[in-house]
Amino acid sequence: MTTTPLPGTPAPVPPGRDPLPPSLRATLPGRHYTDPEIFRREQERVFEAMWFCAVRGADLDRPGAFRTVQVGRENVLVTRARTGELRAFLNVCRHRGARLCLEESGEVRRTLQCPYHAWTYDLDGRLIAAPNLVGMPDVDRVEYGLVRVALREWLGYAWVCLADEPPSFEETVVGAAVERLGDPAAIEHYGTERLALGERVRYDVRANWKLIVENFMECYHCATIHPELTEVLPEFADGYAAQYYVGHGAAFGSGVEGFTVDGSAGFGTLPELTEEQDRRYYAITVKPTVFVNLVPDHVILHRMFPLAADRTVVECDWLYAPEVVASGADVSRSVELFHRVNRQDFDACERTQPAMASRAYRDGGVLVPSEHHIGAFHAWLLRQLGPIDDPSM
Ligand code: FES
Ligand code: FE
Repeated sequence: MTTTPLPGTPAPVPPGRDPLPPSLRATLPGRHYTDPEIFRREQERVFEAMWFCAVRGADLDRPGAFRTVQVGRENVLVTRARTGELRAFLNVCRHRGARLCLEESGEVRRTLQCPYHAWTYDLDGRLIAAPNLVGMPDVDRVEYGLVRVALREWLGYAWVCLADEPPSFEETVVGAAVERLGDPAAIEHYGTERLALGERVRYDVRANWKLIVENFMECYHCATIHPELTEVLPEFADGYAAQYYVGHGAAFGSGVEGFTVDGSAGFGTLPELTEEQDRRYYAITVKPTVFVNLVPDHVILHRMFPLAADRTVVECDWLYAPEVVASGADVSRSVELFHRVNRQDFDACERTQPAMASRAYRDGGVLVPSEHHIGAFHAWLLRQLGPIDDPSM
């Protein structure tokens, strides 16, 4: 096991709070998990400012297929253009602002038509028709087209960014995998963008998104709530998450054949993995809302959609080699392992959420040494948010 903890400076102890013994570090105060104003600022300065993983590209498998997703305070429409490229737009009609696509997913033949007065846009967002448009020759079809949103594809997903000047995708998204795995090539070996969807489960979690991130980053809870996972990855019973270290993957137990609910064999190792990556589990947090879990025969990718201070929808995809899915192989034992882990984790987050409003948590809780790396997440978040007692908030 490598022993280099991930870099990062912990969040400062809030003013007025008693100094902590060296073993402990402060969490965020409870208000950060409940206050709608803080959530609003997170929408503005985190979800709308950063690259946000919106849609799996293969879900939009032909021109005209679309999905709508909530990104911060905006509803974003992602669709496939006739050229085959993905495009993202604000889901807002340029006429009088009606929401253009009401469904979460669907397909149009050639155009997107507003259900209010029938302004009609092509799949590149240009305004191409409207009642009496010929009588308004001065209306520019591009200028009154849909508002484009920046989009990048990585790992087979469309990542969108609402910022006028998006941050570097390489630094803020790809960089998270490099920082965690210690090698830019390591994630490429899984060929995630070429994998096929074996299962998708959507969880509606009654908890703040940060509780879900913090929980994912640590394994202090693994021995208590994840009996199946610690059978497969015995070192997790010690409480140190793979994410605590740069480049470390948790090794399978000696009698374990695969990353399945009962340790039985999974599927063939993905073809480009190195020997070191075989029989190991790696986890990456791509801030703000994505978790990537890498095991030898599949990839599990979580996308979070924070909808309120106390509600987060999590969409979890299990991705396998295309031939595994095409063969109709039974992936249920493979899926069941992380599905149980998800439910165990989300139950814990839901159990924690109500207490965030308790006076017992007014100044927050504490992080033990195996959780200290979560302090870097808190410090990062506080930098993004700026001073929270700012009267302009
Ligand atoms: Fe969309 Fe009028 S609001 S056509
Ligand atoms: Fe967990």
